[in-house]
Formats: sequence, structure tokens, C-alpha cells
Amino acid sequence: MEYVIGLDLGTGTIKGIAVDSNGEILAKHSEVYKLYTEGNGYSEQNPEDWYEASLKVLKKIVLDLNGYNLKAISISGQMHSLVLLDKEYNVIRRSILWNDTRNTKECNYVMERMGERIIDITGNKCLEGFTLPKILWVKENEPSNWEKTLKFCMPKDYLVLKYTGNICTDVSDAAATLMFDLEKKEWSDEILNYLGIDKEKCPKVYNSIESVGELNEEIKRKLNIKGNVKIFPAGADNPCSALGSGIINENKALLSIGTSGVYLQYEDSYKNYNGKLHMFNNVIPNSYYSMGVTLSAGDSLSWFRNTFAPDKSFDEVLEGIEDVVPGSNGLLFAPYIVGERTPYTDSKVRGTFIGIDKVHEFKDFARAVVEGITFSLKDCFNIYNNCYEKEIISVGGGAKSKAWLQIQADIFNKKIISLKNEEGPSLGAAIVAAVSLNWFDSFEDAVKLIVKEEESFYPNKELVEIYEEVYNRYRKIYKCIKNI
Ligand code: XUL
Repeated sequence: MEYVIGLDLGTGTIKGIAVDSNGEILAKHSEVYKLYTEGNGYSEQNPEDWYEASLKVLKKIVLDLNGYNLKAISISGQMHSLVLLDKEYNVIRRSILWNDTRNTKECNYVMERMGERIIDITGNKCLEGFTLPKILWVKENEPSNWEKTLKFCMPKDYLVLKYTGNICTDVSDAAATLMFDLEKKEWSDEILNYLGIDKEKCPKVYNSIESVGELNEEIKRKLNIKGNVKIFPAGADNPCSALGSGIINENKALLSIGTSGVYLQYEDSYKNYNGKLHMFNNVIPNSYYSMGVTLSAGDSLSWFRNTFAPDKSFDEVLEGIEDVVPGSNGLLFAPYIVGERTPYTDSKVRGTFIGIDKVHEFKDFARAVVEGITFSLKDCFNIYNNCYEKEIISVGGGAKSKAWLQIQADIFNKKIISLKNEEGPSLGAAIVAAVSLNWFDSFEDAVKLIVKEEESFYPNKELVEIYEEVYNRYRKIYKCIKNI
């Protein structure tokens, strides 16, 4: 039997799933790696750790499926993070990740000098998370590292390089650098020239569904793989997650609560949201997607657990939150623990609990964290004027708890749908390869067969009204705390 592996190189783990030509998931495995946070706002990882972890994932899956025939590996990954490669294709320094916020000065510089043009060309404001201001930080603070750089690329591109020898990227990751012309689908000479970035250092850009090479002989020997294995640079994790969740037209939207949180809409054509939302090229050829991002969604809950209940599992942390009255007995939480992207684009603001009362117990705090994360995603949802027309699919950590799914329905005042075989970006990556190998005639056919809805959560009218009032109070927090 033939199968493809979809890999998702996340911030915490790399996950692989094996999918056959009927869309069945045959095997999965994940591995973790280290995150370096030495320095204020710093967040880094070692690309070699990604590669070693990816080999372990591939090895385990290939062993589990002994006798089956691996046709392709298709890779999705954390967006924006910067990898610098020298002329021997060695990594020059640790990767500066998407959630690293050391580069506010560089963002301000770009916005002051070419703010409007940046938004016109790339559809986005310059934010700390994006690759461009990370490059400018390296140029300014580590000039010899920039000097040594033959090419830069993003995390999943590093795996593609190690597997095939080809340094390249795909449109969705290129768009998320902030140096890419979204409509022309090419590196923007205007941005590169103005900011003194040598175009030679930019990787070649492919469509997500184009195979960019084959798995090299050495890895095949190590993993005991016989035939040819095509490599696909499927793309950035958010659009891969959207594809793997069936968001393939303008009728559906994605609510994803992972480390970061995202409310995402598929776009048939390029739309200018004036930088209020992110706008990027999609992994489905010739389409786009827009989204608002909460920087610390699941990450806020992890922080809460690690700090106040390190011995509890996430299920235990959320135990009993359904018994707490909506609005957590007056307790509010703002999840800005590493700053916030949408709607404030403020890397300096920090999170807060407001309204702590003697009556509050652990479960009130846990519910307040869950509500605060969901409110901040509602802030993203509210920017759109067509959001109530969409069917919302909820995925990620936030879709693992029924109590949280109901809270999403009540806060958004929308039906919220969970999925049966929710595998995140790795499934989207696998679908890219499956469609490209002609196992399916179209993305629609693939999604129809593979993505299955599980349960719908409907808004409760009474709770919707309560949440409207609580949300109005939540909305006031940012203004009050931003200067404190
Ligand atoms: C999106 C973003 C994050 C990462 C997480 O702009 O920065 O969602 O993609 O991997």
C-alpha cells in the first residue's frame, strides 16, 4: 500500500502522520526539542535539533508501516522564524523564532520609512514576528553573521534542504517574511532595495504543491526506504492547518488555539485589510487567507499551569470550569503575556488578571484564562464584516475540551464545529502531497473524504448576553493597562 507523510514542524514538537490514498491515517508520531529563551523577548531554536527530531519521527513511522510504500514527505512549519545558512549550507546561528520580540526598533524603522508601501505590497504591517525585521536585527547587531549568509529560509525549508539539497521556500512562507509581493508572487525588489537586503540571499519560491526534489540516498539508507520519495514544501502551519480542517472556500473559517491562537478566513482573491489583519498567499494555488493572531493562546494556559499547578495535567487544570459562572465570578484575564498582535500590535503590553476577589478559587482563575484567550480571538473575529456568514471550525488545544468549545460558541455567538480526525497542519501538508500525486482530483475531493465533522456547539442565548457584557469590560482592559 502507498502512503505519504505529512510533517508539521511546530514550536514545541514535530509531528508526523502517515496518510494512504484513501485518506486513512495509518500511523503518527511526534518528538520534542529545546526552546532557548536566554534574553528578554528572545526565543530561539537549533535547526539541527529540528532535523534530528524529524528523522526520529520518520524512522518510527516507516518502521510501523514496514512493507508499505512511502511516496512523498510534505512539510508544514512554524511561520516567519529565521534560519541563516552559509555557503556550505551550514546553519550560522540559532533560528530566531516567530515569537521572539527583540526587534521592535527595526519594526518601527520599517513602518516610519515605508509603512504604507509595505502594507500595499505585502498586505501586512511590519510586526516583530515577521522575518524581515529579524533580518534587519541581525544586519544591525550581528553584521558578520549576515555577511556570511548565502541564503536565509524558514524552518520547514531547512528540513527540505537537509532532505533534498535544495534551498527553497513556498509562496505561503515567502509571503509571511514581509518581503514578498503577494499579488505578483515574487520577492519585492522595492522592499529589498530600500532596506538593503541582497535578493541573492532570498530562497527560490515554489508553489506549495510542486515537488522540490527527492529524499536523499543517505537518509533513505538510514531509514531503510527503497523507492523514490518526493519532497513537497507544503507551507506555513496556519494555512496547512486550515486545509487539513476543510477551510477550502469562503464559506468556512478556522478558529485555532495552539501555542498562538488564530481566527482565519480563506480568501479567493487578494484583499487589502490595511494591515489590521494578516494577509498571505495560501497553500491552495492562487488563493489567499487572512487572519488575526493572539500571540499567547494555548501558551497562556501552559504558563498558568506551569506556574500555578505544575503537577496537574491540562484536563485537571480545566476540571470544574463548567461549574464556574460565565465571566468567572467577575475575574478577567488578558492573555498578553508576551505582548499582543491583533488587534493591538503591541509587543510591550503584558497580561493581567483583573478583579481578584476573596471568593475566587483555582477553577475561577482557570476559567478566566480560557475566557480571556477566547475574548482575544473574538477581537480578531470582530475585525471582519462578513464573519457571521462563516461556518467556524475549531481546532487545537481549545477544541479538546467540550466546556471550552461551548464557551467559544457563547462568546462568538456562533455555532462552533469540532472535527473527528483533527491532525492540524500535518494533515494539510499530507493533503498537498496527495493532491499533487493525483490521488485526488482536487482539494475539494480530498477534503470531502478526509475531513470529518464531529460535534456542533450552539450558542446559549442567555449566556451570549452575559458574555456580551463581560466582553465589553474585557475590551477596556488594554486601554487601561497599556501605559502601566
Ligand atoms: C502566525 C504566527 C504563528 C506561528 C505559529 O503569524 O506567528 O501562528 O505560525 O507556528
